[in-house]
Amino acid sequence: MNQTKTSMAAAILALLGTSGLAAKPATPTAPIHYDADHKTFRIDAGKITYAFGVNDDGILQTLYWGSRLAPDDAVGNATPPKSRSAFDAIGANTPQEYAGWGGPITVMPDLKAHFADGNRDLILRYQNYKIDDGGLQVTLGDKAAKVTVILRYVADPATGIIGRSARIENHATQVMTLDRVAAASWNLPAATDYSLRYLTGTWAAEWHVRTRPLTPGATDLESRRGSTGDENNPWFAIERGGHWNESQGHVWFGALGWSGSWNIHIDQDVLNQVRITGGFNPFDFSYRLQPGEGLDTPVFYAGYTDDGIGEASRLMHRFEITRILPEGPKPKLRPVLYNSWEATEFKVNEPEQERLAEKAASLGVERFVIDDGWFGARNSDKAGLGDWVVNREKFPNGLKPLIDKVHGLKMSFGLWVEPEMVNPDSDLYRQHPDWVLNFQDRQRSLGRNQMVLNLARQDVRDYVFNALDKLLTENDIQFLKWDYNRNWSEPGWPQVAPEEQQKVYVTYVQNLYDIMRRLRERHPGVEIESCSGGGGRVDLGIMGLTDEVWPSDNTDPSDRLSIQDGFSYAYTPAVMMAWVTGSPNWVNKRNSSLDFRFLSSMQGGLGIGANILEWTPAEDATARSYVEAYKGIRATVQQGLLYRLLSPQERAPYSATESVAADGSQAVLFAFLRQGQEAQAYPTIHLQGLDASSRYRYRAIHGTVAPGTPAVASGAYWMSHGIDLGLHSDFDAAAVVFDRVNGGR
Ligand code: DGJ
Repeated sequence: MNQTKTSMAAAILALLGTSGLAAKPATPTAPIHYDADHKTFRIDAGKITYAFGVNDDGILQTLYWGSRLAPDDAVGNATPPKSRSAFDAIGANTPQEYAGWGGPITVMPDLKAHFADGNRDLILRYQNYKIDDGGLQVTLGDKAAKVTVILRYVADPATGIIGRSARIENHATQVMTLDRVAAASWNLPAATDYSLRYLTGTWAAEWHVRTRPLTPGATDLESRRGSTGDENNPWFAIERGGHWNESQGHVWFGALGWSGSWNIHIDQDVLNQVRITGGFNPFDFSYRLQPGEGLDTPVFYAGYTDDGIGEASRLMHRFEITRILPEGPKPKLRPVLYNSWEATEFKVNEPEQERLAEKAASLGVERFVIDDGWFGARNSDKAGLGDWVVNREKFPNGLKPLIDKVHGLKMSFGLWVEPEMVNPDSDLYRQHPDWVLNFQDRQRSLGRNQMVLNLARQDVRDYVFNALDKLLTENDIQFLKWDYNRNWSEPGWPQVAPEEQQKVYVTYVQNLYDIMRRLRERHPGVEIESCSGGGGRVDLGIMGLTDEVWPSDNTDPSDRLSIQDGFSYAYTPAVMMAWVTGSPNWVNKRNSSLDFRFLSSMQGGLGIGANILEWTPAEDATARSYVEAYKGIRATVQQGLLYRLLSPQERAPYSATESVAADGSQAVLFAFLRQGQEAQAYPTIHLQGLDASSRYRYRAIHGTVAPGTPAVASGAYWMSHGIDLGLHSDFDAAAVVFDRVNGGR
């Protein structure tokens, strides 16, 4: 059993015995204990303790979630709280681990259902538990309704991040219709000084960081558009005290592993208890379970730290690298990539792509990717989507000559696909107009001249899998850029009974995951990027099946500083692709130097997307030296510990980040000045995360440091004294590497 290749989502699904990722073996979990005297469960993992128990009424009640407790500390007993007033029945506000809507409750339920006989009452009481290497499984049930809910807990021993999910089973003889199904609820202690941080945005302006106080009432973060979306990302952080310091403060944080419509509901009740409930979006949701059927939820992951939002992000990054990514715990570093989209758009052809490939290779590029336009009648976004055959006018001999050329230049080869979509002007749509999401005899709205294929249909799923499998079998391809460029509309499924149609929200995503999983199994060398017109499908579900993501179509290096900063709150730079493109930038017409563009893109997986055939010899030389320098720091940048030193949010003039290698041998500082500030000096940068008594030698990749800066100094010096950089004018930037001197001390 190869445990290192197992994601946490896979472990949970494997233990639940469900489809999808279930084939993978289980991941080891942190120890989980059951105290039979007090009927309490306790998880100690990383620096946290999490505890819950069974109260006198048989209800599972959260007891503690925070800093690690001593092994012999009591975590308390679960008891039904007293009623607050005559209005509330006893138990109305119990902080339940997983609440059915029924009995006295007034808090947001995790599960709400109705039955064929008209019953809508569901009380989930504890039945039994099982602990093994893979984690904890607690079974709840409503005996009268004959419903079982299996809760699953897996804890990462390194980061303390817990993954929770549920399986709902209908053991009755009547149909049960699920109206609302969450993966889990997380309960925080009662307090009045919480605030919420979340991510919001839109196309070309994704990953804005927003913070708001939590007050009595509810906040919903969600997507109703069928996929993850960028209006909100399924990530949250809640801080106590309102300070939002990068290195201090109590922070609870979490993210949902689901790439369909989702909801995270954050509620502060009349007792000032905060409850975070996340799972399938209940909007337009309905899922019927026939007798004997079950439904598995996505996994809702969450963690806690005493060390501020910066540490919360680092824990997420480490967790994603080691427990989520398909090649974790040691995923391959992202190769330097060239993508032809911004150079040629749909006008791809063999001779020009070959010229681009030769030029890219000469700059040190390691992967060459043809974007949109290589297939079917795809000369614009108006036609061809769905017809995954090579366009013989553009590539008369197929893709092979170009692929051979690219391989001969010692680069891997990648191809753009958007397999879930179809243009009405395509052979596929002409043959199968019924394959798209639609309501019978109703308008079919277009977005970017395309419609969404109903991947929930098994024939559509098979078509998409077979088309991609054939492409990968017939061509020596190492990388797919998997795009997805519109929201759902009219999400009907006329081929199934009306009461079954809303299953589309679940089955579509399960089938998407199934296609990706099977492609990875059959073509193990192929890597996949999740792209959705920018960062519209980035979540811990899709990340379990892909190797990198595209955070935004906005490649302006200044806007990208904020976009990449926002991205980093939830997701690791190990998957964050960033391209150097032309100046002025196509999104906002801003001019910027090649240095600024390279340094901004070097904060993630470096790519080049400019028309490099137009670059001058001087620009070629600049690019070559940055690509070479990047290869020497990319392990640190992509997979090291990230410290956000100066925030670019709210269009701030400054931005600085530092990445420290996992083994402490190197630190990389990037500093940017968007706009010169009168005669003011750039803020002194105090590094973080170095070993105070080791010695580090600095070298600048670009930019100058203040005269008198010592060539070698201790970690204590760089962290406490700091370093002054010579950044003065608009769009100035610097990158400085700190290498630990041999022998360290
Ligand atoms: C949207 C992507 O984000 C772009 O990078 C490019 O691949 C286009 N789609 C192609 O249509």
